Amino acid sequence: MALQIITAPDPRLKLIAKPVDRVSEDIEHLMRQMADTMYAAPGIGLAAPQVGQPLQVIVVDVGNDDNPDQPGQLYMMANPIIEWVSDDTCSYKEGCLSLPDQYADVERPAHVKVRYVSEQNQEKTLTAGGLLATCIQHEIDHLNGLLFVDHISQLRRNMIYRRLLKQRRLDTTAN
Ligand code: NI
Repeated sequence: MALQIITAPDPRLKLIAKPVDRVSEDIEHLMRQMADTMYAAPGIGLAAPQVGQPLQVIVVDVGNDDNPDQPGQLYMMANPIIEWVSDDTCSYKEGCLSLPDQYADVERPAHVKVRYVSEQNQEKTLTAGGLLATCIQHEIDHLNGLLFVDHISQLRRNMIYRRLLKQRRLDTTAN
């Protein structure tokens, strides 16, 4: 079942998420519900604060570039920590399920090494590049109360928030 995704602006998206003690059955269940929610949206990443759970849990699947009909690799991570970032950067037009229909170019390190706890409660590391590296950084930002718009100019950020508030008023009127 898909979980409800919180949209910005909302104070719950600004909270610092708590680490999980271990990936219990409950946390694994949350991870799977988050993955279902991400695929249904559809999106390529989702962080627990976006579904109202202030926990350090993210899910990521950037798809399969070589064969778009096939699923990509799903990563479900608890307590992800970026251990290393490359000096070279890359820029992607980012979006976010909590900022519907809003996009902006964000520059981030092109490669990262992340340490995390898997859905099987095993400690793992992953070195990622390209869209996967960007997506992991974007999702970890959510655990620190940051959205992709926090990486762009205040002018552009305010423009996006104005559009979101306008859309929210239209949605409220329509309902
Ligand atoms: Ni996001």
